[in-house]
Amino acid sequence: MSEKVKVGLVGCGAISAAYLRMAPNLPILEIAACADLDPAKAAARAAEFGIPQVCELEELLADPKIEVILNLTVPQAHVPIALQALAAGKHTFSEKPLGIDRAEGERLLAAARAHDLRVGCAPDTFLGAGQQTARQVIDSGRIGQPVAFTAFNLGRGHESWHPSPEFYYQPGGGPMFDMGPYYLTALLNLLGPVKRLTAQAGIQIPDRVITSEPKRGQRIRVETPDHVCAGIEFENGAMGTLLTSFAMLHAPYDRQFPIVVYGTEGTLKVPDPNGFDGPVQVRGLGDEEWQEVAHTFPTGYGRAVGLADLATALRAGRPHRCSLEQAFGVLDLMQGCLDSSAAGREHRPQLPYQRPAPMPADLPFGQLDS
Ligand SMILES: NC(=O)c1ccc[n+]([C@@H]2O[C@H](COP(=O)([O-])OP(=O)(O)OC[C@H]3O[C@@H](n4cnc5c(N)ncnc54)[C@H](O)[C@@H]3O)[C@@H](O)[C@H]2O)c1
Repeated sequence: MSEKVKVGLVGCGAISAAYLRMAPNLPILEIAACADLDPAKAAARAAEFGIPQVCELEELLADPKIEVILNLTVPQAHVPIALQALAAGKHTFSEKPLGIDRAEGERLLAAARAHDLRVGCAPDTFLGAGQQTARQVIDSGRIGQPVAFTAFNLGRGHESWHPSPEFYYQPGGGPMFDMGPYYLTALLNLLGPVKRLTAQAGIQIPDRVITSEPKRGQRIRVETPDHVCAGIEFENGAMGTLLTSFAMLHAPYDRQFPIVVYGTEGTLKVPDPNGFDGPVQVRGLGDEEWQEVAHTFPTGYGRAVGLADLATALRAGRPHRCSLEQAFGVLDLMQGCLDSSAAGREHRPQLPYQRPAPMPADLPFGQLDS
């Protein structure tokens, strides 16, 4: 087995628990130390998950045993910390979004090339059995040529449950930068490169009140669109709508299958791209009923599998799947939606996009390469 990759975690908030729960199932990973602006949060996560060292970010960056900085801070800090990590000679993997605008993504692309280090970015949910099986259905030709899709993520936002929801309403947040990464990454993996898009985006509910603890009653002024409708055309000819909103109450859509791809020979119901497993269903031209497609990839993965893929790729010298190029492509499309709306014109991707390799189907859980 390859030597473990030692990871230094920065940002010990809500999502860090999901990573720390999954990491012990992925033998390539060792979470060696953790840091947070709030040292009490870092200490609490270290105690809960047995992380041997709690320190400042600067100590993580200076620690020669740490190879990868795992950045689970808020969106505004993703690129500044990634640039610090690269300057310190570390690979880095961050939560989504890659950055809060395209210019940040461009700075990161340039720095990763200059330092010849790896940058990875969430989401990694497309590596799960649900999305991989859906991709295999399309690639196998079972629904014929994809011609159309719908993708919906419709809700009222995060102020009813998240302990610190303010960042979701600042630039780098909103439904597009928060949920768009799951949907656009899934669509890119299913359908390939985007040709062009147009969008409308607005701030529909500009003043919000936090109803979760501990900030119950505090007000949030919304500073980025909380409702985005995009029309997207893929290079393969498929055209459809991505609707993502924090302004829609009780939206009665099928949350089990928020993405549907329509082909010339059949229709594919794709599971929630914010999850790893989830059912996949197909109905062909002559089918009376929907058919469940059995998963042909390992189930049970969770957040941290993209980090483990990067660590495995590092040891094997192959490309990692949650690549900087893919995350930049997603960031460019998300920003493209806001730009298209503001300027009233279509957006075309800034860089060519290539899908990552599919996941291997026949390996035991936890092992990512044969
Ligand atoms: N909460 C979720 O369900 C969820 C799910 C998927 C992805 N994410 C993404 O994960 C990221 C973090 O979200 P969260 O919900 O865990 O947020 P959070 O506010 O709960 O945690 C963020 C943590 O980062 C720390 N931090 C912020 N800036 C820092 C800096 N400069 N240096 C060191 N520490 C810093 C904060 O003190 C906090 O502990 C976001 O990008 C979010 O989009 C969150």
